[in-house]
Amino acid sequence: MAGRFGLRRFTWSNPMYLPDPHLDEEYEDVDREKQRKIVKKRKAFNIKAMFASLIVLQILVLAVTIVLLWKALDTSVATKLSESGANWCADEPCDHGVCLEAVDGFYCVCRGGWEGEFCETDVNECKTIGCHPLATCNNTAGSYICECHEGYEGDGIEACTDVDECEDEDICGPNSICTNTIGSYNCSCIEGYRLSNGTECEDINECLTSPCHDFADCTNLPGNYSCACKAQYRGDGKVSCKANSSGDGSKILVAAGNPTGTDRASNNLEVYSLPGGITVRTAESAPNYTYCAQSKNCKWDANYHSIVTGLDLQTWHHVEMNLTAMPIDYMDQWQYRVDGMHTFTGGAYFQTARYDNGWNYEYVNRLKFQPRHANFDASFQGFFFDDIHYGVFDSTSSENVIEEYCVSFEE
Ligand SMILES: *[C@@H]1O[C@H](CO)[C@@H](O)[C@H](O)[C@H]1NC(C)=O
Ligand SMILES: *[C@@H]1O[C@H](CO)[C@@H](O)[C@H](O)[C@H]1NC(C)=O
Ligand SMILES: *[C@@H]1O[C@H](CO)[C@@H](O)[C@H](O)[C@H]1NC(C)=O
Ligand SMILES: *[C@@H]1O[C@H](CO)[C@@H](O)[C@H](O)[C@H]1NC(C)=O
Ligand SMILES: *[C@@H]1O[C@H](CO)[C@@H](O)[C@H](O)[C@H]1NC(C)=O
Ligand SMILES: *[C@@H]1O[C@H](CO)[C@@H](O)[C@H](O)[C@H]1NC(C)=O
Ligand SMILES: *[C@@H]1O[C@H](CO)[C@@H](O)[C@H](O)[C@H]1NC(C)=O
Repeated sequence: MAGRFGLRRFTWSNPMYLPDPHLDEEYEDVDREKQRKIVKKRKAFNIKAMFASLIVLQILVLAVTIVLLWKALDTSVATKLSESGANWCADEPCDHGVCLEAVDGFYCVCRGGWEGEFCETDVNECKTIGCHPLATCNNTAGSYICECHEGYEGDGIEACTDVDECEDEDICGPNSICTNTIGSYNCSCIEGYRLSNGTECEDINECLTSPCHDFADCTNLPGNYSCACKAQYRGDGKVSCKANSSGDGSKILVAAGNPTGTDRASNNLEVYSLPGGITVRTAESAPNYTYCAQSKNCKWDANYHSIVTGLDLQTWHHVEMNLTAMPIDYMDQWQYRVDGMHTFTGGAYFQTARYDNGWNYEYVNRLKFQPRHANFDASFQGFFFDDIHYGVFDSTSSENVIEEYCVSFEE
């Protein structure tokens, strides 16, 4: 009989490994492929025989065939090998194992992780060996690896523990905040930055959302922005930019006439924008009603009377002027009040036929003013007026309105 071929697996330490000390040089060139062919044929026939045995009617026919072929093969091989006195292991027929000589063949003693007649088949340990639940088994040639899932580290068998990816300071890139999570990590951006394409923190251009005051210029900065009031405005640039009124000396004159407009009352109110603030003064053509009424000799040269100075250049102010037509002819009286508190009473000559209809008049003129209005361009010079109210009514009652108009834009 010819060779018996071992199919079992052994480890290197298996004592069956016994190197043959009697290597015969003459047979070193025995064709290894030929040997394998022979073995494979035998194996094939064995398998055929197994199948055939299931089919009763063919058992005999096949058995005969197998026996015949077996004998033919065996004979040739045995003959050839026995003729040549083969050294079976000389060509190292075992891929991943040790060859052991036998009288009529050889054994392959496989190294761990390999199996097959010639130890040519990798054992898929992953089918039998259990890795850690958070690990994947990776079958490799002759072995296997339990690899912890991404985000975990450990031997893959006993342990797979979370990796703190944030220990790598560069993992999230610049301007970011790394947060470790179980099995992963999360990158978010510091204030003023946002995730651009899922990984990088890019600067937010805050200026696109117009965060500054209308009269300020916005400058985008890394992670931030700045606001600067435009020229001639001052303020923090975010919540306020007030016109930087320099007090340029501009002046307005409020001259009030009589209700019918046929005559002028001697009212002359002047408003100056000065560096120290706004000045309001009046020029009266007569010192006061009492004097004129008594002397009946009022002078016409104007005398200036300051009502208030140093008013804030940036805010709205309010002035109220009443003309009271007095019963004695040729002299009347003006009352002034600025911002509800600065008052002055002056004389006035109301040269009219005001008694034509036999009434005493009260003549009210109220207005708001400031030298520059923050809602307008700073380069605009002069005063702005708003909320002008004009009314004439019978002095016996302000309910008895003779004439009235007003324009109102705001409170
Ligand atoms: C399995 O391990 C080998 C060797 O380390 C490696 O090259 C291969 O990528 C691994 N396969 C998988 C699916 O992890
Ligand atoms: C990751 O960060 C984003 C913001 O960048 C946040 O919306 C999300 O909830 C975070 N996820 C976790 C798991 O922390
Ligand atoms: C994300 O954006 C950065 C810079 O804007 C760029 O360098 C990087 O290639 C981008 N990554 C992807 C995945 O698009
Ligand atoms: C932006 O700048 C302002 C003013 O300098 C500062 O108060 C604020 O903390 C900055 N914000 C950030 C996110 O740096
Ligand atoms: C504001 O006006 C003052 C003069 O009243 C001037 O000295 C100052 O430079 C001005 N400031 C700006 C920002 O224009
Ligand atoms: C009116 O003017 C005269 C002349 O200037 C002055 O003597 C008098 O005191 C004044 N009377 C009142 C009430 O102001
Ligand atoms: C003007 O007259 C009105 C109505 O009589 C009165 O309410 C107001 O206080 C007067 N103003 C001044 C400055 O006298």
